[in-house]
Amino acid sequence: MRVLGIECSCDECSLAIVEDGKIIRGMKTYSQLEEHRDFGGVVPELASRVHVKHIGVLYKHLLVETHIDADQAERSIDGIACTVCPGLKGSLIVGLQFAKGLALALHKPLIGIDHILAHFYSGTMDTDISYPYIGLVVSGGHTLIGVVEDYDTVHIKGYTIDDACGEAYEKVARELDLGYPGGPSIDTLAQSGDIHAACFPVYRDTKHIYNFSYSGLKTAVIHHRAKFWNTHIPETKENIAAAFQHAAITMILDRITLLMQETGIARVCVGGGVACNSYLRNNLEQLKRAGTIHTLAMPRSALCVDNGAMIAGLGYEYLTRGITSDFNIDVRSRNYFYRNTT
Ligand code: KG4
Ligand code: ZN
Repeated sequence: MRVLGIECSCDECSLAIVEDGKIIRGMKTYSQLEEHRDFGGVVPELASRVHVKHIGVLYKHLLVETHIDADQAERSIDGIACTVCPGLKGSLIVGLQFAKGLALALHKPLIGIDHILAHFYSGTMDTDISYPYIGLVVSGGHTLIGVVEDYDTVHIKGYTIDDACGEAYEKVARELDLGYPGGPSIDTLAQSGDIHAACFPVYRDTKHIYNFSYSGLKTAVIHHRAKFWNTHIPETKENIAAAFQHAAITMILDRITLLMQETGIARVCVGGGVACNSYLRNNLEQLKRAGTIHTLAMPRSALCVDNGAMIAGLGYEYLTRGITSDFNIDVRSRNYFYRNTT
């Protein structure tokens, strides 16, 4: 069964055709980094206009890549899955209207997808991992940890109470003049820095032990660096990046370890742009080598960042169970499902 997935929730316009929920037949993505670079972040109104410009062209290119004749698309695609929440409303609307148009034209079912559930699912596309597993989504907009019971059920145990992890990476990168997006630059720079250069605070709440907070860390790094700095070590950009990253990733690793201990589940799956981070990945691999984690699903970078393949993959899970969406389905900027299940 082949599903076309459409992802337009933020600044990535990505379309993919996925077979049986796992095999990526083709994917075309337009990333709007250039358009938003000068602003140091995503400008919502601009994002939707850029989606309008590219989505049709990407669809055409995707058909070429997957050797589907436009006239045969009806025979080659079994359903259209599209992100409907959470995200920038204007961007989501572009994707959903395109999806509705295609579903009508090709006489195929439409499946509205929750972007966060798709991130939780994405690791299963590269690695065989059975439910339940510990799921982590860390991106520019979201930081969540939970127990993933099934493709459509996640018991969220913790989330950020202020900034997302990727957001902190962006702010620190701006302070260090590293440009946008900041995550990959900090990751690279930190590799030649010293994690002990500073001892930045790692947030812990004794009541909500799985929650995250990156605002304090960001402020410590940008405004109160001297207070946490190890005076024997020079204050270079590399050292700042390494010490910040150590604190940011330690917060994540702590939560994962705690949740594995509490639940006895030794299967871990990560997703979201920050899951590309080499320091996080190396530490998780080390936990696997030590036997603490038995199964580790760390998808390739293209599946960590926002992408159409994870939307198609999750769409397949719904479609095989006969679950589709009404044509009057609308977009939602937020989803509160995780707040209700803590
Ligand atoms: O999932 P994503 O592509 O989009 C959102 O939904 O936000 O995540 C983008 C975020 C950005 O903040 C980017 O700087 C961060 O992921 N990122 C990284 C790395 N690669 C991307 N952060 C840390 N290390 C990386 N290697
Ligand atoms: Zn995302």
